[in-house]
Amino acid sequence: MSRYSLSRWWPNTLRSRLFLILFAGLAVAYGLSFSILFAERYMSAKAIMLGTLESDLATSIAVIDRLPAEERPDWLDRLSRGSYRLVLGPGLAGVPDLSGRGKEIADRIEEAAGYKFAVRVEAIPSDGNRLQGHLTLSDGSPLTIDVTPRGVVPLATWLPYVFIAQMVLLILFTWVAVREAVRPLGDLAAAANELDPNKQAPLLIESGPSEVAHAARAFNAMRGRIADYLEERVQILAAISHDLQTPITRMRLRAELADDSAEKDKLVKDLAEIERLVQDGIAYARSSHGNGEKPTRIDLASFIDSIAYDYQDVGKAVSVEGIVQGIAVTKPHSLRRILTNFIDNALKFAGAATISVGKSDEGYFVVTVADHGPGIPDDKLEDAMQPFFRIETSRNRDTGGSGLGLAIAQQLASTIEGSVRLRNQPQGGLAAEVIFR
Ligand SMILES: Nc1ncnc2c1ncn2[C@@H]1O[C@H](COP(=O)(O)OP(=O)(O)O)[C@@H](O)[C@H]1O
Ligand SMILES: [Mg+2]
Repeated sequence: MSRYSLSRWWPNTLRSRLFLILFAGLAVAYGLSFSILFAERYMSAKAIMLGTLESDLATSIAVIDRLPAEERPDWLDRLSRGSYRLVLGPGLAGVPDLSGRGKEIADRIEEAAGYKFAVRVEAIPSDGNRLQGHLTLSDGSPLTIDVTPRGVVPLATWLPYVFIAQMVLLILFTWVAVREAVRPLGDLAAAANELDPNKQAPLLIESGPSEVAHAARAFNAMRGRIADYLEERVQILAAISHDLQTPITRMRLRAELADDSAEKDKLVKDLAEIERLVQDGIAYARSSHGNGEKPTRIDLASFIDSIAYDYQDVGKAVSVEGIVQGIAVTKPHSLRRILTNFIDNALKFAGAATISVGKSDEGYFVVTVADHGPGIPDDKLEDAMQPFFRIETSRNRDTGGSGLGLAIAQQLASTIEGSVRLRNQPQGGLAAEVIFR
């Protein structure tokens, strides 16, 4: 069989493969011991049958031989046994039995009868197993022994049911064992899949069989190391950003003291941009810890209104549309920062933003900042949340920005046990949502 056709029949899942191997092995072993038992029983039953056949038959033939011819028919039934019957006369026409069994039976009968009669055994081809022995009694009349070797294997009728029950048990236990063995792998894969450094997912349970516990411990340790590496990276970012602030401030002061010129304006503008990048860097580093803010009760409607007013006051096109009234217990500074990052993007890329508040079926608040701008290509929606990711288009080159806004929003969202979602609206433009309780 070629590799290809073999692999077509070979199941894909480890679970089915293990099951198949175990079950096939057990079934073969089981079948083997069953057939050995069967064969052994067959042989001993046959030996017993032939043993009694020869002695019983020898007695019966001797009795018939001694009886006067007219009394013989009365005795026939009494002298017959389950496996043979005596018949007066030449019997049916048969063919010489070639199986060796006939010869064996004939020899034994002759031996048991003290070699007084020549026995010829013939098979009756029309009747399966049936054999007939022919001999001639002392007075010259023929005698036929009708041998039907039945009951050689005394198979109980319930045996097949026991066999089926055993197979069912075998399947059941094999399946349970395989499932037990494979489940931890599935759990591990699920945990690896869900591994998100931004979320505090529960650790894998480190109990159970020792191999499983070991794998779970290793996985948890790996998760811890990844978290440490990420933390270290963020710390470096925070340290650099922080240390850059002082020289930047000094440079700006010096630039402002310089004589007015076009060069000076450019320098001040560039410095302002660097300053913003640095501030974003610090904000990103801080947002990973949720900056220690305590949750408080806020009236969502007036909270959103106040954010919109702040923008409207400086002439920005931010409007509020459709608000579900509600009190949220959340961290207001974090929520404000998430929303201002969304709104700043909408203003930057679309010139206007619309805020709305809804409630999901599961009872979560959903605050949406929508715009009518170009949106983000669907395959880039995930990437847009990554730190320092900016879509490389000509429009983006002049807009400035660190590419940290959405990453900060996402980290802050997880500190209020919420999440951030981006989607393109059917009528165009991006909708950025924060979902929280
Ligand atoms: N409302 C939006 N419309 C179109 N593109 C957007 C919008 N918001 C974000 N983006 C894209 O996602 C990128 C990442 O956004 P963000 O993390 O806020 O970084 P930044 O605003 O500093 O560029 C942006 O550079 C932009 O390409
Ligand atoms: Mg931004």
